[in-house]
Amino acid sequence: MAEYIGAGNIEDLPVGGKRALRAGGKELLLVRVGPREVYCVENRCTHADAPLEKGELEGTRIECPRHGARFDLRTGAVLRMPAAVPLRTFPVRILEGGEVEVDLEEED
Ligand code: FES
Repeated sequence: MAEYIGAGNIEDLPVGGKRALRAGGKELLLVRVGPREVYCVENRCTHADAPLEKGELEGTRIECPRHGARFDLRTGAVLRMPAAVPLRTFPVRILEGGEVEVDLEEED
């Protein structure tokens, strides 16, 4: 069953912006890649646990700042080694007033 939690208003996160948050015992990273396009992934690289919030963004990809692994924010898929395991991703919805919510229960 879905368990959406509030993650702030989209207007407080610029396009290309990232925000780390903790919820439900998880460390998450919210990333806004377009005007109405926001993704949420686990904020830990699957290679050696580096936080991804300082990683470089390129479109819908993020690069781990520690050893350069790359992930697709939409699916969590690994796009470049040394990581081999995909990132966990979480569904995001944007409500009419711009409130962003993340579903902690259902992984994408
Ligand atoms: S910790 Fe991310 S690539 Fe090594």
